Amino acid sequence: MEQNFTIKNITKNSTNLEVDWSDGKKSKFNYLWLRDNCPTAHDKDSRHRMFNILKVSNNINPKKFAVNNEGKLEIEWSEGDHISYYDQNWLRENCYTIKNNLKYKSPYQLWDNSLQNDLKSIEIEHDEIMSSDEGLIRWLELLHHTGIAIVKNAPTENNSGFKILNRISHTRETFFKTPFEVINIPKPNNSAYTAHALRNHMDLPWFETPPGYQFLHCLVNSATGGDSSAVDGFAVADYLRKNEKEIFDTLVNVHLKFRDMDYTQESVRSYYAPAISLTKDNDYHDIRFSVATMDALDCHPDLMDKVYKAHHRFGNLLHDDQFQIKFRLGPGDIFSFNNRRLLHGRTEYDPNSGHRHLQGYYMDRDEIIGRLRYLKNSVNSNQ
Ligand code: OGA
Ligand code: ZN
Repeated sequence: MEQNFTIKNITKNSTNLEVDWSDGKKSKFNYLWLRDNCPTAHDKDSRHRMFNILKVSNNINPKKFAVNNEGKLEIEWSEGDHISYYDQNWLRENCYTIKNNLKYKSPYQLWDNSLQNDLKSIEIEHDEIMSSDEGLIRWLELLHHTGIAIVKNAPTENNSGFKILNRISHTRETFFKTPFEVINIPKPNNSAYTAHALRNHMDLPWFETPPGYQFLHCLVNSATGGDSSAVDGFAVADYLRKNEKEIFDTLVNVHLKFRDMDYTQESVRSYYAPAISLTKDNDYHDIRFSVATMDALDCHPDLMDKVYKAHHRFGNLLHDDQFQIKFRLGPGDIFSFNNRRLLHGRTEYDPNSGHRHLQGYYMDRDEIIGRLRYLKNSVNSNQ
């Protein structure tokens, strides 16, 4: 429910207006910030800012200011012969004083092996997503908050994953093509295209921005073996932050090196990044971990021992049964997950015992989060 707050008092300071609200809260609104966010600053069609703050002096300030008869905060500026009218609700919603006083709340629900007993909680029916925005929202919320979802009862035709993925957005293209075919092939250019076990890993850590999400659509899984595993890398990072701070700090501060060695490529893709990166709020942002594609590290010799021991500890926890879950994909399952948070793996399978075929798709994280924000606003505003 939207609440209305009104301005009770305004005081002019050297760089900002200080506003007292009817509920006792206080805000500071900087003059350059106010001038830059004048409601006339944006083009009504493109919604881009046409006003150029660089053309006013940085001493700009209100010559006059008051809440007018229409309830708008009216400011006559000291330069530029301009009057701005601000909606009080807009000011309140965008008040950075109040926002900065709020305690940060993470969108992530971290999980460990106890999720194994509650796998139903991450499952969602294909038809529910296809037929309702509520279903789509539930899928997106699982992806964003929990980092993992298993879509059940999807069709098993080749390329049929596009239809449900396009309920979210377009996919992310890579040289593996979309979808990429996870099958056992001769002369494989990637260990996923073998029948070998894959230790828990992320895909494509040697990109500047590895795909945010991955979708492994199981078409056939009748071979012996080939069971899946997944681990919440954020939960493991959180464990280290709370219990083994020196290792955590090393994983956050030292850049590792990853490199693609795909023999079919006429390109050398390589990237330095820390194993754990954090957001502006010190929340978890990305995990980079892949034993298969970590390059020969070249960090400072004084650091190498510490870095390798931290990597060793992190990698072992990422395979620890305290943290990882295990499950088996069946035809019509789409194992969907945050590729920069979860690590995923599989056990070895026997290619002579049956057939195994997954089709893989990637999508950027922006598409998941952007679509979720949009749908939540439009569903709420329809109520
Ligand atoms: C992959 C992968 C897992 C599997 O293709 O990146 O990790 O179960 N596949 O085959
Ligand atoms: Zn993979």
